Amino acid sequence: MAYQRPKGTNDILPGNSEKWQFLEETARLLFQDYRFQEIRTPLFEHYEVVARSVGDTSDIVSKEMYDFYDKGQRHITLRPEGTAPIVRAYVENKLFGPEFPNPYKLYYIESMFRYERPQAGRLRQFHQIGVEVFGSENPATDVETIAMALDYFKQLGVEHLQLVINSLGDKESRLAYREALIAYLERYEAELSGDSKRRLHENPLRVLDSKDPKDQAIVANAPSILDYLNETSAKHFQAVQEFLTALAIPYEIDSNMVRGLDYYNHTIFEIVSNAPGFNGVQTTVCGGGRYDGLVEELGGKPTPAFGFAMGMERLLITLEAEGIELPTVLPLDCYVVGLGETTNLECLKVVQAIRNAGFSCDRDYLNRKAKGQFKTAAKEGARLVLTIGETELTNGVANVKNMATGKEVTYPLTEIYQNFPEIFEDLTELD
Ligand code: HAM
Repeated sequence: MAYQRPKGTNDILPGNSEKWQFLEETARLLFQDYRFQEIRTPLFEHYEVVARSVGDTSDIVSKEMYDFYDKGQRHITLRPEGTAPIVRAYVENKLFGPEFPNPYKLYYIESMFRYERPQAGRLRQFHQIGVEVFGSENPATDVETIAMALDYFKQLGVEHLQLVINSLGDKESRLAYREALIAYLERYEAELSGDSKRRLHENPLRVLDSKDPKDQAIVANAPSILDYLNETSAKHFQAVQEFLTALAIPYEIDSNMVRGLDYYNHTIFEIVSNAPGFNGVQTTVCGGGRYDGLVEELGGKPTPAFGFAMGMERLLITLEAEGIELPTVLPLDCYVVGLGETTNLECLKVVQAIRNAGFSCDRDYLNRKAKGQFKTAAKEGARLVLTIGETELTNGVANVKNMATGKEVTYPLTEIYQNFPEIFEDLTELD
């Protein structure tokens, strides 16, 4: 029996991996413009780091962790998200000293692991492009970071997006809201789903996030957190809205949105795609928010923070639903056709020389006939084809053809070795 990859995982194959590289490159270039620097953390963490950050009652921690005890009996988990590990790294590596920029801005492109029920755009190993900003409580940081996510989508050509925001306020606001919410939900306790009943007193905000249709009907009329924001929290949320408006960024407020992780306070947001190809179904491609208490929770000094992550698999299906095509084959500068086994050594040398001159180059290794080799060159999208037959070899020359214009020139091999960039330029300038 042939082996299969584990459920909920993907092989990213050539023809597809080019799209991933394009998404990654575009993100790196844009994030660098915003002065973000890359961080890479281990694929696994101490269970405690994630459980304390994301929250014991969240779906992620209570149902979806890939956790195990290693041979030294340490409780380990594959990371289900990037924020907790990065906060751990921020505290552990003391990334707040005078030698570091403040705010400290980080980005990551990494795989994450959640034991979820796999479906389109929901995997067990998936990939996130994410960012975290430490050290600024300025609402301009919230807005600028959201704007960066939107800029990214704009650069990719994605149009059908909706920005949804909410505020969870600070601790004081949330405590006041928690009481009001419990009082409301208790009236419907008997009708709530099992999960929501359990969460009612442990973490009532999680009930707002329930996927159960009956819970959702009850939650629709729940009190709004926005009515419980104290002055500081209301001011922060007000400023976020004003700044978004100042940058002409449209948004909607959804006061029932809580997000699935416990570390948030103040601003939270999601970017949802309603691309025509989704036929009315919405897909969350990006989510994030402020988490001012987490650095302290993980042993650091109180430090405000803001971040987001987008799912790369979701991004790819969104691009497809928008009808946007990404590159799948990278262009080839030159293909070397060698005719007859005696040309093997010269081909080996010339291909290496062309590559060393900074061009992409490929060749035939299977002694195929001329027709087959030219077919391969065309399939690879070669701009030039360089042919060495036995006669050319004897005469110390090679024939170089521009595949688009049909122009052909015979050059001495010595010139090709010394001056390929000029030959390339001469033959391709009219393409
Ligand atoms: P999250 O909402 O759990 O937030 O995930 C962010 C994005 O990752 C989602 O909007 C979705 O696009 C993608 N995603 C999540 N789970 C899956 C899955 N099973 N399969 C495919 N894609 C998935 C976080 O992870 C936070 N750490 C974001 C953040 C950063 N908040 C502050 N800083």
